[in-house]
Amino acid sequence: MARILVTGGTGYIGSHTTVELMQQGYEVTIVDNLSNSSIDVLDGIAAIVGRKPEFANIDCGNFVDLDNVFKQYPDIVGVIHFAASKAVGESVEKPLLYYRNNIGSLVTLLEVMQLHKVQNLVFSSSCTVYGQPDAKHLPVDETAPIQKALSPYGNTKQINEEIITDAAHADSDLHATILRYFNPIGAHPSAHIGELPNGVPQNLLPFVTQTAAGLRPELKVFGDDYNTPDGSCIRDYIYVVDLAKAHVKAIDRMLHAKDREQVEIFNLGTGTGLSVLTLIREFEAATGQKIPYTIVGRREGDIEQVWAAPKRANEVLGWKADTPIRDVLASAWKWEKHIRNIK
Ligand code: NAD
Ligand code: WQD
Repeated sequence: MARILVTGGTGYIGSHTTVELMQQGYEVTIVDNLSNSSIDVLDGIAAIVGRKPEFANIDCGNFVDLDNVFKQYPDIVGVIHFAASKAVGESVEKPLLYYRNNIGSLVTLLEVMQLHKVQNLVFSSSCTVYGQPDAKHLPVDETAPIQKALSPYGNTKQINEEIITDAAHADSDLHATILRYFNPIGAHPSAHIGELPNGVPQNLLPFVTQTAAGLRPELKVFGDDYNTPDGSCIRDYIYVVDLAKAHVKAIDRMLHAKDREQVEIFNLGTGTGLSVLTLIREFEAATGQKIPYTIVGRREGDIEQVWAAPKRANEVLGWKADTPIRDVLASAWKWEKHIRNIK
C-alpha cells in the first residue's frame, strides 16, 4: 500500500491524521523534531491502530536528513506537511524563528520531493489568511480575498501558499492541495491522543478543559463588546478527527482522481459559527462541568467573527465535518481527564 510522509506527525493534527491514514490502509512515516510534541504520541497512535508508524526524529529544514528519509522510504507517494511553529503571539515576539522554521522547512521539503520525484503535497494552511472577512464574504469560501496578515505566523502561511503555487507553476509534475483549517478542537474518542499545549494554553478549548480540571481558577473571556449576537467572538470549531479525515480524502483524490487541478484549495470548517459564550455553555451541557469565567478586555489581534463555507470540500472531497459539537467538547474533556488522571 502507498506510503505517506507526515511531517509534524506527532503533533496535534498530524497524530490524528496518521491514525486515519493507517486505518484506511496507508503506510505512514512521520518526521518530527519533537519541538512541540512528545515521542510518546507514537504509543498513543499504536494503542488505537495496533502498531506504530515509522518515525524519524529530524528537522524538516535539514536537507541531508530529509533526503535520507526519502532514500530510506522509496515508496513515499505523497506528503502531508504539518510541521511548523504555530503560536501567533510567539510569532510576534520571535518573527525570525517563524520565518526560518515555517518557510525554510517548506522550501527544503519541496526541494527534496522534487529530487525524489514525489509529486503530491498536502499543505496545512489556516483561515487566518482571510483575516477579518467583510460581512459580504461570510461564511467565507475559497474565493474570499486574502488580507494582510495580522502576525508573522499568519504571514508564513500566506507566503507558503505562494511558494507552493510558484513551485507548481514551474514544475507541472507537482500537485498540491492547500487545506485552510478553521479552529480545530477536541481529541480522539479513545483519549489515547489529543492536544498537548505547552505552558499556559493560548487557545480557548484547552483553557476551558484545564479550568474544568482545576488547573486554572477561571477562564478569561476576551471581550463581550463585539458586534455579534452575544458580544463575544465567533469561530468555526471543527472536530480534529473530522479534520484528519479530510486529509485522507485529499490524499485519495491526489492519487486517484482524474479531474483534479494542479493546485486545489479547500476551506475545512463545519459551516457553523459558535460564539465563545455559546461554546462555554455547550461545554457545560456536554460535560456537566461548570466553567467559572470573567469578561475582560479584548485580546489584541483577535478578529470578530469568521466561519467557513465548506461547500467545495463537501462536494469535491466528498467530506463533511458533522460531529455534533457536544460530542466534540466531551472528547476534549475525556482527554483532559485522561492526561490529568481524573476519574
Ligand atoms: P503542533 O505544534 O501540535 O504540531 C506541529 C508538529 O510539527 C509538532 O509535533 C512539532 O514538533 C513539529 N515541528 C515543528 N517544526 C518542525 C520542523 N522544522 N521539523 C520537524 N518537525 C517540526 O501543531 P498542530 O496544531 O498540529 O498544527 C499542525 C499544522 O496545522 C501547523 O502547520 C499549523 O500551522 C496548522 N494549523 C493549526 C491550527 C490549529 O489551531 N491547531 C489551525 C490552522 C492551521
Ligand atoms: C478563539 C476565541 C478568543 C482563549 C488561533 C490562531 C489561528 C489558529 C487557531 C493556527 C477568540 C477567545 C481564547 C481564552 C478567550 N492557529 N479566547 N479566552 O484566535 O481563533 O485562532 O488558533 O493556525 O491562527 O489565531 O483561536 O482558540 O485562540 O481563540 O476568550 O483564554 O476564544 O478571543 O475569540 P483563534 P483561539
